[in-house]
Amino acid sequence: MIYQKFKGQFITLEGGEGSGKTTLQKQLADYLIQAGYEVMTTREPGGTSLGETVRNWVLSQDPSMHIGSEAELLLFLAARAQHIEEVILPALDAGKIVICDRFNDSTIAYQGAARGLGVKHVQQLCHLVCGEILPQLTLFLDVPPEVGLLRSRNTAKSHASQGKLDRIESEDLIFHEKIQKAFEVLASREPLRIYTINAEQPQAHVLKEAIRVIEELILLPVQKRWYSLPWKRRRT
Ligand SMILES: Nc1ncnc2c1ncn2[C@@H]1O[C@H](COP(=O)(O)OP(=O)(O)OP(=O)(O)O)[C@@H](O)[C@H]1O
Ligand SMILES: [Mg+2]
Repeated sequence: MIYQKFKGQFITLEGGEGSGKTTLQKQLADYLIQAGYEVMTTREPGGTSLGETVRNWVLSQDPSMHIGSEAELLLFLAARAQHIEEVILPALDAGKIVICDRFNDSTIAYQGAARGLGVKHVQQLCHLVCGEILPQLTLFLDVPPEVGLLRSRNTAKSHASQGKLDRIESEDLIFHEKIQKAFEVLASREPLRIYTINAEQPQAHVLKEAIRVIEELILLPVQKRWYSLPWKRRRT
């Protein structure tokens, strides 16, 4: 059984650019709210005023705004510390299902592996920032980087960004392949937390699989635990 330190459920969505995280997050939230759960969706970097400011900085293509790898890592972590304190922890304490678009695994894959700062170092810093506030379940949306980047490019064309990719999306394919490899390694090392979904499937299939996993791994164990409480048993 999954050990819980807080009342709510913490789920993260991970994967490379254009793997379908934001799309799935919205669909999952709609489904779970319909099913009667209290859900909070949020994203990284972002979720707070500080986080959204950091998001604008790190994704900015402004040539006068140079951000080195170490500074980038620390900005992401500062945003995360604030996000946990201001948004994630209160929602988990209130018993909500929190679905967060990107979290520690993205930092490990992007800054640790692809930027070359070291997976172990970055993992340690993530633990320093998060303490025990770690996801019970992470869905890794597995898609070849070239497929994801093509999706992102097509999405950018139809948005206000007028076809422009952000600072991280516009890194070369080798960078995105390192990220993909790092996610695969993380998933193989932590099979109990990270569930891999083939995100090349049609969206409807991805959603169906995600719902099945969330129900099996998170929601059903919680319901069972609830009904096995002694005062609940006496009443029923
Ligand atoms: N399974 C899928 N098959 C085909 N297209 C998809 C699928 N899932 C999402 N898309 C499309 O791909 C594009 C990118 O999806 P989305 O924005 O959800 O990805 P993301 O992982 O959040 O990307 P980013 O890392 O840039 O935030 C969108 O246009 C979305 O409609
Ligand atoms: Mg997204």
